Amino acid sequence: MSKTWRPATQLVHGGTLRSQYSETSEAIYLTQGFVYDSAEAAEARFKGETEGYIYARYGSPTNDMFEKRMCAMEGAEEARATASGMAAVAAAILCQVKAGDHIVAARALFGSCRWVVETLAPKYGIECTLVDGRYLENWEKAIRPNTKVFFLESPTNPTLEVVDIAGVAKLANQVGAKVVVDNVFATPIFQKPLELGAHIVVYSATKHIDGQGRSLGGVILSDTEWVNEHLQDYYRHTGPAMSPFTAWTLLKGLETLPLRVKQQTENAGKIADFLAEQKQVAKVIYPGRKDHPQADIVAKQMKGGSTLVAIELKGGKEAAFALQNALEIVKISNNLGDAKSLITHPATTTHKNLTDEARAELGISPGTVRLSAGIEDTDDLIEDFAQALSKIKA
Ligand SMILES: Cc1ncc(COP(=O)(O)O)c(C=O)c1O
Repeated sequence: MSKTWRPATQLVHGGTLRSQYSETSEAIYLTQGFVYDSAEAAEARFKGETEGYIYARYGSPTNDMFEKRMCAMEGAEEARATASGMAAVAAAILCQVKAGDHIVAARALFGSCRWVVETLAPKYGIECTLVDGRYLENWEKAIRPNTKVFFLESPTNPTLEVVDIAGVAKLANQVGAKVVVDNVFATPIFQKPLELGAHIVVYSATKHIDGQGRSLGGVILSDTEWVNEHLQDYYRHTGPAMSPFTAWTLLKGLETLPLRVKQQTENAGKIADFLAEQKQVAKVIYPGRKDHPQADIVAKQMKGGSTLVAIELKGGKEAAFALQNALEIVKISNNLGDAKSLITHPATTTHKNLTDEARAELGISPGTVRLSAGIEDTDDLIEDFAQALSKIKA
């Protein structure tokens, strides 16, 4: 493995660990444990005096390949694979805080992420302040002497707001807090939070990394010092580890990630432009368009637009439901980042647990739908939207 390889090469070859059979495709080491040549060897392994695996909850060869490939892509020193994106988010935050500490988080978060900081953390005496993350002064104002973690996603789910990651990292460094970025919507192809100054990056690998709707997974990336000090024991003893079979699926997903994300982004951009001109549509929010409210920050920190588009229909919930039901190629599903185009109505699905006021604050109206563009033919997708829109009232 070479550190100078570009992303597309890293994603095919990075981290590969061949067995004595020199297989082309990565092997699946579907084992819980490992045997030792002697009792002395087992003792030495447990003491950390020799290199090697101990137990699959701690780490295992197929997972290791996935983790190393992610590190190569992300520019991280260490990674830990988890059973889901939420396991990654919860571990990355909770492993580094204790009762009496304070978290500042953007209020625009995926519903379960928001539950972790807003509802779960306070049960253990960890305070949380939610801010409108679009404005740096809100992050600054929320800082307290006990602030230990800043948490954000950018672009956000589902209204594609962006947060100035470098700006937040600068503030965090002034007070010795760590910035955790959920980079799911940007993908590692378009945004590198560690390069922007963030300390920890998390992914739901369920999304673009798998990209073909097969498996749940997650990953936490950071530097060796932070992993050793905070994550290592938490990860080993609370057991969020990924199955080796999932790690193998995700290794295959990583090989085609740049190709899929490129096609999905091209489709998303063209659909966004088409929808912006339609009379049934009140607003389209797409990070690749000049009219994105924070186009300057997008240009500063992202290498591309997005595979997702937020669409606000003039006809409210009725129109949103009618559009979803009339689409033929685009499927109704709350997943995203898939090869298949998927559409969802956040107010009644992913963000249904928020109050009406909280949804309104985030710009999620009854007429908002979120499209995750797939890799299908662009013209087929546009024609699908055209025929579906023709069935709803303007
Ligand atoms: C932004 C974001 N973070 C985290 C998650 C959680 O990921 P998972 O479903 O793999 O647990 C999701 C899932 O939709 C998400 O959209």
